[in-house]
Amino acid sequence: MIPDSSHPLGFPSTAAVAPASPTPPVETARIPNPPPALPAQQSWNNVASLESYLQKVFAANPALKEQLDAVAQRNMNDPSSLYSLGSGLDALAASISSIGGQSVTATDLLGYLQATRSQRPPTLQWLKIDSQPATSQTKPPELNWADPNVQALIEATPEQQQKFIAFANEHAAIQKRVAQKMGVEQPFRGQHAKGVGLSATFEVYDNIPEYAKAGLFANGGKFKGVARFSGSAGVPDKETAPDARGFAIAFIGPDGKEQNFLMTNREGFFKNADEVMVMVRAKMAGGMAKEKYLAEHPGDLAGAENALKGATMATAVKGMVTAGIVGTEAEAVQRAGFLFTRSAADAQRPVQSYLTETYISNMPIKVGNRVARFAVRPLTSDGLNKGTADKPLTADLTNRLAKEDAEFEFGLQFYESPDTTPLNDATNPWATPFVPVGRVTLPKQDLTSAESQALAKQIDDTSFSPWNTSEHTPVGDIGLARKPIYETSAGVRNACPYGF
Ligand code: HEM
Repeated sequence: MIPDSSHPLGFPSTAAVAPASPTPPVETARIPNPPPALPAQQSWNNVASLESYLQKVFAANPALKEQLDAVAQRNMNDPSSLYSLGSGLDALAASISSIGGQSVTATDLLGYLQATRSQRPPTLQWLKIDSQPATSQTKPPELNWADPNVQALIEATPEQQQKFIAFANEHAAIQKRVAQKMGVEQPFRGQHAKGVGLSATFEVYDNIPEYAKAGLFANGGKFKGVARFSGSAGVPDKETAPDARGFAIAFIGPDGKEQNFLMTNREGFFKNADEVMVMVRAKMAGGMAKEKYLAEHPGDLAGAENALKGATMATAVKGMVTAGIVGTEAEAVQRAGFLFTRSAADAQRPVQSYLTETYISNMPIKVGNRVARFAVRPLTSDGLNKGTADKPLTADLTNRLAKEDAEFEFGLQFYESPDTTPLNDATNPWATPFVPVGRVTLPKQDLTSAESQALAKQIDDTSFSPWNTSEHTPVGDIGLARKPIYETSAGVRNACPYGF
């Protein structure tokens, strides 16, 4: 997962990178989710200052607060609206601006809504295994692997292969640079550098629909394994910085082979591997511009932030056009602005506990002759057990697991049709419900014990990959790119699969 935690809610004026007016019309046909227009000027640099402004406006005008709550409610019930504006926020932003006297845009309000929701909204439709057998879902279609269009989703062409290897090398260079900069001998993971490993089990439910019975899910059973929670940044974080959180699990399957499943707590990902690399490069360019600026202007933190944002945005815009992701710079400004705003807002949503988050793959895998995304939803109730200000998420995990097991339900979301469940576009939420197929248990364990610490170290030195699997291999461009990228990242740090 590519983090973007360095971006606050605000974004530099588009004037710096947008071409001279008049702005050409946006060709939305090339982007399935038309991105919202970037406001001409973004006035809020962090959620706290926006929140305090909104509170003043709402105190004087409670009706506006009700309207915003209604939009938030709609967002929570409709997954697709999480990624689009136009849900009444424009009009509301105009009213708030005119009443409060300071300009607020729809993008600001969306960011505020996403950032201030403390729990992941229940956007994923989940069938109940007990009350409603999953067989009630229409049988998902099988795919014909020999069809050239389908084959293109599971096998990289020589050109793709070359491009993905180049991505992998570029990524590894960043990984080495981070290690060098931090003065450590052993490089971290290229992404998800910091994590906490522990033991886990996977139990496949007996009463799952016939169409889901393949691979790990074929014949029920309980399998032993390990798990790792992580922050998505490529540098170690203290768990207090806003960041996407990862959950990787590895099991020894019924065929004796290792099965890995990697997820994060964000629904929706970049469109394809090209877009991921554009964003990786943009982030890198921003970081370098910030460092250079600080070296030349010691202590000018505000100027350094501007240098970071300006270089990041300019590199992203150029990269989007060069990679052919969009046709014009104006479109690139919109697309990059949308990605940054969304990830910045998403990143600021406070995560209370690793154990109460929903984690999703965003990327599909093979399940027999069918294709599905996967996710886990928490079966552990809320209630904070935070023990320290430093590493609060690990402290919460340690406190809870010292007392009891924690559980997640594992579900498969099957491919249905190109319209409702696009196979090669990780931006869109899928329309089909999740079919529960099993339970991931993190058994009660003392994470402070020497035994647990040794296991955690062993897991840290392990490499999880969506390609560590006998049957559930990835489908789509992003999945194909991840093969050399994960292998190379693991190679740089001499890591190999857990190896049960
Ligand atoms: C092209 C897109 C992606 C790139 C370039 C990428 C890159 C990476 C890299 C380099 C690592 C470290 C590998 C290692 O050294 O072991 C990693 C780890 C990880 N990635 Fe990705 N990733 C991508 C997509 C995704 C997606 C779609 C997800 C799930 C939603 C995801 C979830 C994770 C998780 C959870 C880890 C940590 C695994 C662990 O705990 O070891 N990634 N990613």
